[in-house]
Amino acid sequence: MVYSNIIGLGSYSPSQIIKNDALSEIVDTSDEWIRTRTGIKQRRITAGEKTSQMALKAAKAAIKDAGIKKEEIDLIIFSTITPDFFTPSTASIVQAELELIDIPSFDISAGCTGFIYGMQIADQFIKSKQCKAILVIGAEALSKVTNWSDRNTCVLFGDGAGAAILQGDEREGIISTYTGSQGDLEGYLTLPAVPVRNPFLKHQENNGHQSHIYMNGKEIFKFATRIMIKSITRVLDQSNYSIDDIDYIIPHQANIRIIDYVSQKLKINKERFVVNLDRFGNTSAASIPLAMDEAYKNHRFCPGDKIIMVAFGGGLTWGAALANWTIQGDK
Ligand code: ACO
Repeated sequence: MVYSNIIGLGSYSPSQIIKNDALSEIVDTSDEWIRTRTGIKQRRITAGEKTSQMALKAAKAAIKDAGIKKEEIDLIIFSTITPDFFTPSTASIVQAELELIDIPSFDISAGCTGFIYGMQIADQFIKSKQCKAILVIGAEALSKVTNWSDRNTCVLFGDGAGAAILQGDEREGIISTYTGSQGDLEGYLTLPAVPVRNPFLKHQENNGHQSHIYMNGKEIFKFATRIMIKSITRVLDQSNYSIDDIDYIIPHQANIRIIDYVSQKLKINKERFVVNLDRFGNTSAASIPLAMDEAYKNHRFCPGDKIIMVAFGGGLTWGAALANWTIQGDK
């Protein structure tokens, strides 16, 4: 039996730090409101680097960490809602920059759940023996689609990139995965693409079109608390483990109050949640690999630890992955 194992991780965050006080200069908000309602103290935003450029740095770090030759990678899966282009895919751009010849590469769009979707797809390619080593990336430049005059959303987001190398071997790495979506709730979180342009129509609509994130925060909050619990429960039910066997939960970094709620409901000590949203905000598809890489580099995980990654996001989408931590020792 072949299992998928995370054998290397890398991440990248832009250097420009935006503290809450800086936001209170552009919208009617305060450090106190943002900290108490979300847990976020600061975020990092790109000063010109594109999603692909941030991703490339994370990918190179992950390849180095894995200790493999980049030529061993036989698939790139890139999750983002802020690609550089509609086409080529951001995965193709990274493939070219890594000078990898002929291997398949594609983007997926599952909002903040994107990294979990990417891991699940990679897991299937490995288990079916179609691939041996897969580069899974989650990266976002949310700042380019943030409405900087909307205090309901602009205080939440940050930019960054995270990457993992998944490799097939006999160790039981990824134990179970679960994803879902509910398209009829799409209106709770939207980021419009370009409007239809028909030169034969007399009246063109949306001529002043701008692509910004809109979010119904209250509804997403209710949805998130329910679906995080469902997703965690589902990956456990699909395995032989119970919540007491779990060493760490790496949740999507959206709001500390969502994480606190899940911690209380499932009676999991807060210490077992990996949290870095105070310093990075919500980086959508990058959030889980960024948090996981930081905790790993801080020597928080030991081989054999059982870890659940869990997320929710635009779509609406959700998902979780249960895995044994199989990266051996310090590198
Ligand atoms: N500063 C000050 N006041 C604010 C701010 C702000 N930044 N934002 C909202 N308010 C105000 C509102 O206008 C409202 O005022 P009103 O009562 O006069 O109308 C009041 O604060 C309360 O607003 P609520 O929306 O009830 O605030 P809430 O406590 O729900 O917090 C928040 C809002 C932080 C958005 C929360 O609902 C949340 O985190 N939701 C989940 C968002 C999320 O996780 N998204 C993830 C998906 S993102 C993705 O996929 C890319």
